[in-house]
Amino acid sequence: MGFIGEVHMKNLMKDERVDLIGVMEANNDRARYVTNKFNVKRFLTLEEMRNSGIEAVYITTPNRTHFELASQAVKQGFHVFCEKPMTISLSDAKTLRQYVLGKKVKFQVGHNRIFAYVYKYAKHAIDTREIIPYSFQVKMNRGELLNPPWVSDKNITGGFLFESTLHLFYIVEYFFGKIKEMHVFAKKSIYDDFDDWAFVIKTSSEIIGTFVSSAHTGWMVPFERVEIYGKHMMISNDEMERLSFNRGLEAETEIHDYSKMPFEKKWGYVEEDRSFITSILENKQPFVTVSDGLRAVEIVDACYKAARENEPVVKF
Ligand SMILES: NC(=O)c1ccc[n+]([C@@H]2O[C@H](COP(=O)([O-])OP(=O)(O)OC[C@H]3O[C@@H](n4cnc5c(N)ncnc54)[C@H](O)[C@@H]3O)[C@@H](O)[C@H]2O)c1
Repeated sequence: MGFIGEVHMKNLMKDERVDLIGVMEANNDRARYVTNKFNVKRFLTLEEMRNSGIEAVYITTPNRTHFELASQAVKQGFHVFCEKPMTISLSDAKTLRQYVLGKKVKFQVGHNRIFAYVYKYAKHAIDTREIIPYSFQVKMNRGELLNPPWVSDKNITGGFLFESTLHLFYIVEYFFGKIKEMHVFAKKSIYDDFDDWAFVIKTSSEIIGTFVSSAHTGWMVPFERVEIYGKHMMISNDEMERLSFNRGLEAETEIHDYSKMPFEKKWGYVEEDRSFITSILENKQPFVTVSDGLRAVEIVDACYKAARENEPVVKF
């Protein structure tokens, strides 16, 4: 129940279909704060939760713990929302997928960007062929690896790419098709981790693009942007704040400005949480499945292998 746990908690509180029962939080001060704030119980084990009739859990702990907690929760028959990254190793991701497929539980991974307004608009424009993408450029930077404190510890995060970069790999495939081939360059500039990355990508739809991700740029905006290039057309976003669409050489540029919307809404968390609950109640497949979570981990795993072994070409 840290930063993102609280974001989900606030959304779930507003969902009339949900009863919030309790939290498991390792830090005593934090546990006291959230149990008071949200008027919920504190549990120490998943078994206690199960015995209280709880049906679904959110895993919102640091990355390294996801596999163990999510595996236990699935085995005990809870529906699970697991924050990204689903796991920090490919073998764990495959194992967890097997656990999920072996149980009749819903499992959603926290790739919230597909619910964010800027990306929903762009995806709709692609699906309706308002723009036909030929190439693209992506950037996903972080200002620092200082906050939360564990974010610079690759033993906990799995590495910088498992942070926000992973989100945009997910978006690249969501928009442009599966990555078929990728050239990967990485170096350690500021931190004891590969903190500067450049990728050249070709997808199964023969769409080509570049992707740069740095961990240490400061928070100058826009730190997150996808530029989609069509025939004399372009779409681009400034984080979750704005989307610009120019539909032709002499066309006015349309600006869709979401900056005044609440953070949890424009970033997609509200719809993400509602859709998880809907998938449980209506017995539907979640929008971001365990296989999707596995795929994102697979891409990042391949990038680290390429960087470690100095073998830049990755083929899927
Ligand atoms: N999808 C998104 O946009 C998004 C945004 C932020 C964070 N995240 C992900 O959410 C996760 C949490 O990130 P955060 O920024 O909220 O971190 P945080 O440090 O603010 O919160 C983590 C909380 O987990 C608690 N904790 C640690 N180990 C525990 C355990 N074994 N059992 C119970 N509680 C434990 C900590 O005490 C802390 O309160 C990370 O995996 C991160 O990548 C996703």
